[in-house]
Amino acid sequence: MNIAVFVSGSGSNLQAILDEEKRAGLAGGKVILVVSDNPGAYALERSKKAGVKTAVIEPSRFSVREEFDEAVKEILEENDIGLIVLAGFMRILTSRLIDAYRGKIINIHPSLLPAFKGAHGIRDAFDHGVKVTGVSVHFVTEELDGGPIIAQEAVRVGEKDNIEDLEKKIHETEHRLYPEVIKDFVSGKLKIENNRVIRN
Ligand code: GRF
Repeated sequence: MNIAVFVSGSGSNLQAILDEEKRAGLAGGKVILVVSDNPGAYALERSKKAGVKTAVIEPSRFSVREEFDEAVKEILEENDIGLIVLAGFMRILTSRLIDAYRGKIINIHPSLLPAFKGAHGIRDAFDHGVKVTGVSVHFVTEELDGGPIIAQEAVRVGEKDNIEDLEKKIHETEHRLYPEVIKDFVSGKLKIENNRVIRN
């Protein structure tokens, strides 16, 4: 199965996925394309180093979101993509793309959803003073950070942890969890039933 990873920034999750592909494989899945909306994303350097093709699609070229999504969709179709992995992709997708790839787009979010949705999941949880936060991987629907949850892992906030300590723990958890979910998807183990994800 051909996989596309969507990025906007550092790409540490992308790296974890590529490393796992090299180490143990992704159950037959292959990352063949990295899509970025940001030409300056460090994730693009990581892709080049790993020999993975990149596509930079700058939103400023389009007047409406649907046109951006249409351009992305074309590239995905050309590459016969079966799974879209959002990994720090900071742009909201429209139903133009979500509809065409329903049940085939996954996202990782650095909190235990539905708590602390949005762009600052780690900081918002830290500022709230929670004792436990975590990582969620979910299917993408039109509702921001709201699709069916595939996997979650809790992360404790230590009394002496500062925000950097918490970020480190969250990212380590993400880097372990995301490749595992990808393998489950590629293996056909994930089914959505009444908004619940069943793993068989
Ligand atoms: C991760 O924390 C992810 O949960 C969130 O954005 C961050 C991306 O980090 N959606 P990176 O670009 O993978 O390093």
